Amino acid sequence: MTSDLQQAARANTAAVPAISVDGLHKHFGTHEVLKGIDFQAHDGEVVSILGSSGSGKSTFLRCLNLLEMPSAGRLRILGEEVGMKKVGSSLVIADQRQVDRLRTQVAMVFQNFCLWHHMTVLENLMEAPVHVQRRVRGEVRDEALAMLERVGLQDRAGFYPAQLSGGQQQRAAIARALVMRPRALLFDEPTSALDPELVGEVLKVMRDLASEGRTMLVVTHEMGFARDVSSRIVFLEQGTIAATGSPRQLFGGGVSERFDQFVSRFNG
Ligand SMILES: Nc1ncnc2c1ncn2[C@@H]1O[C@H](COP(=O)(O)OP(=O)(O)OP(=O)(O)O)[C@@H](O)[C@H]1O
Ligand SMILES: [Mg+2]
Repeated sequence: MTSDLQQAARANTAAVPAISVDGLHKHFGTHEVLKGIDFQAHDGEVVSILGSSGSGKSTFLRCLNLLEMPSAGRLRILGEEVGMKKVGSSLVIADQRQVDRLRTQVAMVFQNFCLWHHMTVLENLMEAPVHVQRRVRGEVRDEALAMLERVGLQDRAGFYPAQLSGGQQQRAAIARALVMRPRALLFDEPTSALDPELVGEVLKVMRDLASEGRTMLVVTHEMGFARDVSSRIVFLEQGTIAATGSPRQLFGGGVSERFDQFVSRFNG
């Protein structure tokens, strides 16, 4: 390939959103939780997803990495449309292997860490790269150890999750997500299960990842993180995007009365 063609290919890749959804709906029985969400996240964006309890934030993230099946809508990851087929009135995954593959590209970090308790930290990190991505064990091991160092856990590789503090477990979970070399990281309230004194160590890792240019979608109640670290805010209310914009726009006030009310709860 000539260098011109390579450049064009790169420019084209940059233009494809890491994640894109059109008309995303999700209902549980008769309860419609997501009511037609259109959203794109481009490489390098850090999007904070804010909203009251029950507004649909977790459901939204879970649909993006197919932990929940959308009820309707189109989802593209790195430009590749996720195959879904209709069975009765529900959508189901058309090709499980495609979903397994794409899911490693949008790695999720959960509120309660979700580490495998019967595995050491190092085994936790190596599991998906070796068994799902089928990468070479020795290389994965080296990368896993480097990622543990990256999050300050180089001396905890052989520990079991129960032997770690909550902050350490969450940093291990972040390292586990990174070893999959994802194009985007999804965080669902990564610090809300932590004792207050452990929140800072996890936020620091997340701030570092953001400053490296990682693509991140973060459901959080940490308004400082949302305001200072994210490039964009998405405010969900009752399953729709009620407001979106830069932190400066939204936190400046006056864009959305509902958002201003929401934020005032954290200031008082
Ligand atoms: N598996 C499920 N079955 C039925 N209803 C569900 C399910 N998961 C979520 N819901 C409902 O969907 C709505 C949105 O839930 P979701 O967990 O997405 O909210 P959230 O914005 O993440 O809230 P929180 O801030 O409390 O975590 C809630 O009314 C919830 O009860
Ligand atoms: Mg939630």
